[in-house]
Amino acid sequence: MRYADKMNYVKKSAIRSVMADASENGTVDYISFASGFPDPEAIPQEKLEEVGHKILQEKTYEVLQYGSAQGYTGLIESSKSFINKHECICTSDDDIIITTGSQQGLDLVSKIFCDEGDYVVVENPSYLGALNSFKCNGAKLLGVSLEEDGVNLKELEEAFKKGPKVFYTIPNFQNPTGVTTSLEKRKEIYNLAVKYDVVILEDNPYGYLRITGEQVPSIKSLDQDHRVVYAASLSKIISPGMRTGIICASKDIISKL
Ligand SMILES: Cc1ncc(COP(=O)(O)O)c(C=O)c1O
Repeated sequence: MRYADKMNYVKKSAIRSVMADASENGTVDYISFASGFPDPEAIPQEKLEEVGHKILQEKTYEVLQYGSAQGYTGLIESSKSFINKHECICTSDDDIIITTGSQQGLDLVSKIFCDEGDYVVVENPSYLGALNSFKCNGAKLLGVSLEEDGVNLKELEEAFKKGPKVFYTIPNFQNPTGVTTSLEKRKEIYNLAVKYDVVILEDNPYGYLRITGEQVPSIKSLDQDHRVVYAASLSKIISPGMRTGIICASKDIISKL
């Protein structure tokens, strides 16, 4: 088969084979920490059934017809209040787009920022789904070591000196290390991004699962010049099968997405 050259850089996911194994029967008899696979018992099946039924009855046309590319207005509004519940992430200069899972959001962000050969800085190690999206869109990856409180800032600055367009970070319960970036480092990361004019892609599918300790303010909440693109997902807190992701960024970036 004559695939596109960029496919040569795409790695097969070891996680995907674990996922395939885990989803074979819909359930697993062991707890796998290899992928972000939610416990089936945590998926609110009855509530979803009730709400799904109600929506199909009451808003049949709205939900089954083509809709706006940005997403269903009601969902955009409730997504805004959801992500702004604890801290101001989505300001009046920002907007939201609903995506098919956060994965599609990451792919769209790669598409609008990466030209062939552009650098994207990533934590090392990081989430393979995002790395493959960057590579599929022609980007070259620059890895920066992760420490217990987030990336090594010296390495980050060295990487930023090479002129990357985007820095991809998972600041809460990072996949795969579980590291949460400290507030001090979040501030430093933001300052370096301003200094070297880099867009920060802040991926936060896991932050909403915190059960102990203090929530650390997002990098997006520190954003003064609209360079942070914030990605959230309903996959880990409601159901991955719903494929619902949320991107919050400046109105200009959202219109490109
Ligand atoms: C860090 C990270 N980002 C994004 C995703 C994709 O999430 P979604 O199901 O919303 O596409 C995952 C899934 O495991 C993930 O671990």
